[in-house]
Amino acid sequence: MLRRDYLTLDDFNYQGKRVLLRVDINSPLEPRTKKIVNENRIDRSLSTIKELTDKGAKLVIIAHQGDTLDYQNLISLKEHAEILSQKLAKPVHFIDDVAGPAAREKIKKLKTGEILLLDNLRFLTEEVSTFENEVKLTPKEMTKTYLVRNLAPLFDYYVNDAFAAAHRSSPSMVAFQELLPSAAGLLYHKEVSTLIRVLKNPARPCVFLLGGAKISDAFGMMKKVLAEGSADYILTTGVTALIMHIALGKKLGSPTEKFINDRGLERFIEPAKGYLEDYSDKLLYPLDFAVNNKGKRKELTSDELPVEEQLIDIGSRTIERYRKILEKAGIIFVNGPAGIYEEETGAYGTRELWRIIGSAKGYSVIGGGDTIASAERLGDLSRIDYVCTGGGALIRFLSGMRLPLVEAMKRAYKRWSFLSRRL
Ligand code: 3PG
Repeated sequence: MLRRDYLTLDDFNYQGKRVLLRVDINSPLEPRTKKIVNENRIDRSLSTIKELTDKGAKLVIIAHQGDTLDYQNLISLKEHAEILSQKLAKPVHFIDDVAGPAAREKIKKLKTGEILLLDNLRFLTEEVSTFENEVKLTPKEMTKTYLVRNLAPLFDYYVNDAFAAAHRSSPSMVAFQELLPSAAGLLYHKEVSTLIRVLKNPARPCVFLLGGAKISDAFGMMKKVLAEGSADYILTTGVTALIMHIALGKKLGSPTEKFINDRGLERFIEPAKGYLEDYSDKLLYPLDFAVNNKGKRKELTSDELPVEEQLIDIGSRTIERYRKILEKAGIIFVNGPAGIYEEETGAYGTRELWRIIGSAKGYSVIGGGDTIASAERLGDLSRIDYVCTGGGALIRFLSGMRLPLVEAMKRAYKRWSFLSRRL
């Protein structure tokens, strides 16, 4: 039995009370239409929403939505409300306001069992990661932010079920716990307890497969898990693998280099050099890549670089090399697809890796919006042992870093457990 250091839904009585619920329904979007293409995080948020409304809460949901590659964050949550309404088979009201007078009026009028979704939290500067990183407010200081000072007085309880955003120290994640009795939702409980159990005695060898486009997560954890020996191998794909190649002194070709420079990812080249020097036996990178050559997939070895088409995937030799390691792994953690899997010419590597992981004997844990979307599209999710909603949060949890949300829920436990009805 795991020691509990956060309050759960059973600790409070929600009948007729106003409850503010933070979820993470940040979902992969179709790049052109900006429509939601994967509903996994919405599905996984349903049980807490149901439980709270079944228990008589007047429920207000807050959440954020980012954009596919860049943090544009200008996407409305209207579609999320429509999908939630369908799945819950009851109306989920929506207002295009986050914490202004219109939202506050609507919250005050909410009746028992009703649900209201407020608009994208990231419309507020104080909720954007850049603000978090530059301004560095403490949770106590965040109680003075626009969001918290306007919403907190309207609520009896705060519930956080957004494990996937646990690495974000934003007001919506860590400040309401200072002011309101706060519990963790069912998904938070499931994610945290499963990951703690898996990490207690990880079967060896422990293999991390790191790809995708959000590479700061991978780079934030690589050194730690390699230095502490928690990873036996890190297999790189996606943009992380491209950075490894540049760090090795290879030229990739102008379209790929432009892709990297446009996103400011050159800053990862120096750290990559250090990791490759110190952990050459554990940190593996692709032997070959694929490009889209006039609509057809064409593979080329890394010796054939640079190339005047953008690199969109890993090649067959790399897949073969990684297969040997993945088949022997005791545990496999996956974050990020291997290539541009949305296009058929770039999907082969991701599809093959999901096939290999699906039949590997080791315990597999995967996480992250695009990771899950790619596994649903190209693999078989039922063959994965644990599907975590978190990408960045999972990666940091695995590397033993302190997560702002986990710390905030611990503080809330100390502050509010005297109100628990289980006492
Ligand atoms: C995620 O997808 O990792 C979480 O929803 C957090 O989103 P963010 O990276 O835009 O903060």
